[in-house]
Amino acid sequence: MPQPLQFDVLVIGSGAAGLSLALTLPSHLRVAVLSKGDLANGSTYRAQGGVAAVLDDRDTVDSHVHDTLVAGAGLCREPAVRFTVQHSPQAIEWLIEQGVPFTRAEQPSDGPRVAFHLTREGGHSHRRIIHAADATGAAIFDTLLGQARQRANLQLFEQRVAVDLITDGQRCIGAYVLDRARGEVDTLAARFTVLATGGAAKVYLYTSNPDGACGDGIAMAWRAGCQVGNLEFNQFHPTCLYHPQAKNFLITEALRGEGAVLQLPNGERFMPRFDAREELAPRDVVARAIDHEMKRLGLDCVYLDISHKPAEFIKAHFPTVYERCLGFGIDITRQRIPVVPAAHYTCGGVVVDAQGRTGLAGLYAIGETSFTGLHGANRMASNSLLECIVYARSAAQHIHNQLAQVPMPSALPAWDASQVTDSDEDVIIAHNWDELRRFMWDYVGIVRTTKRLQRAAHRVQLLLDEIHEFYSNYKVSRDLIELRNLACVADLVIRSALQRKESRGLHYTLDYPGLLPVATDTILTPTHAAVHLLSQAQ
Ligand code: FAD
Ligand code: SIN
Repeated sequence: MPQPLQFDVLVIGSGAAGLSLALTLPSHLRVAVLSKGDLANGSTYRAQGGVAAVLDDRDTVDSHVHDTLVAGAGLCREPAVRFTVQHSPQAIEWLIEQGVPFTRAEQPSDGPRVAFHLTREGGHSHRRIIHAADATGAAIFDTLLGQARQRANLQLFEQRVAVDLITDGQRCIGAYVLDRARGEVDTLAARFTVLATGGAAKVYLYTSNPDGACGDGIAMAWRAGCQVGNLEFNQFHPTCLYHPQAKNFLITEALRGEGAVLQLPNGERFMPRFDAREELAPRDVVARAIDHEMKRLGLDCVYLDISHKPAEFIKAHFPTVYERCLGFGIDITRQRIPVVPAAHYTCGGVVVDAQGRTGLAGLYAIGETSFTGLHGANRMASNSLLECIVYARSAAQHIHNQLAQVPMPSALPAWDASQVTDSDEDVIIAHNWDELRRFMWDYVGIVRTTKRLQRAAHRVQLLLDEIHEFYSNYKVSRDLIELRNLACVADLVIRSALQRKESRGLHYTLDYPGLLPVATDTILTPTHAAVHLLSQAQ
């Protein structure tokens, strides 16, 4: 029987969260960092706007906390918000130390006190978004990856898909991981396992997210017996490019921060009719306003216009958006950009504390896959990358403190594929993917009703049964693993949405349009105990 590969820390995910944690751990530890595609395949690489932080002495922690609480519509956990915001200057300092090339202040109006250019986004009452032009995520990822490659204790694995966590009934002791090149599932033993697997926006048909955002970490944690929270809060970004050849391209909110306005086809601005904060209202408000106008007028899209700003300013601040739109024949210095809302961010996730600890000993969750309480019912723009860095560093510190008490696990059960064969019906996987994502978009989208949610609940049960049967009989592939996880997360999203009998933040239902007097989290607890997975077919 092949021996399990052994690591002190197994980090599942190579985005901002996973890489920050790996780089913060002591350098004598043996650390594995996994990515299910190439290393850059997560959302981090695509992040545009920037990272929110209190960096200007005209700004304050209290103000950033206050704005986050307002956007979160009564559901943020204030200690988590304060913890994150208080650590924001150190998080940015650490990124700068790593070498992230943030855009420097060029105008005197930025103030002599701030070395870096700070932009604005929806919900923020100050300029507090530090950025690298409009490709902040790529700048952060490239820098952190460059650092990780220099660390001899870090092993970076591409094309490795974690299938499930392994527990001994008390602790998480590693994971089963598909090596896509060999088509084999390996057993990885670890003293500590960290889920840094990103979000689940791929559960919807239209999304700004890359292909891998399938909620794998949430599904694995749930199956291993962990609680999940607030999964009904799915953030739809108001402005994704609407073009037949554009797949998943976001038009950063920073355009609106720098003065871009939303218009109907006839040029009329509509945001002033919906909110006094106009284009810089929180995302839930803007996305719902666009959805409302599109449905009211039967439109395919609305328009975002920044052409009133000088062309040089646009090209300097938004080179990625400018080039990409130009590639589709839209010159944003002269023309409006056709935009639609798309699923963007998973506000809920695996329930964790301030150290990123889940309820299962030895298992941590950080970044978008986690539920820290920071975002409440609606994440404020650019708070996500901040959360990735702050909690990654906090979890790394906690792991460091626990090292002496936790030995390397032994006697892990090997993956058992003796009962499964090669699939000859992959069409079922493709069909179920499409069906799931379409009914989630239609029934569990920006505006919900109980009837639509119940319809979705019924559909997802049928899919879960079918997928379980498929999974029990056929060898795993990336597509099958992702479909199984997407269906699991879709079920949790629908269940959470059905439990909430009010409209709050991102969850808006026509059947309960008002707010309940007391804001409560939706925490789901698995009925199964932490499971000891013995074979694929179980
Ligand atoms: P990701 O960066 O998504 O990385 C997930 C990693 O997990 C990947 O390496 C993936 O391969 C791996 N993985 C997943 N499942 C498995 C598995 N089963 N086995 C092995 N590996 C697995 N936020 C901001 O704060 N500011 C912004 O400006 C901003 N802009 C954004 C723009 C876009 C287009 C998008 C999509 C998001 C944006 N966000 C922004 C959100 C933010 O980028 C993400 O929330 C954040 O990057 C998530 O980082 P992460 O490390 O948690 O996960
Ligand atoms: C954007 O640049 O609009 C995305 C910012 C975010 O998701 O935080």
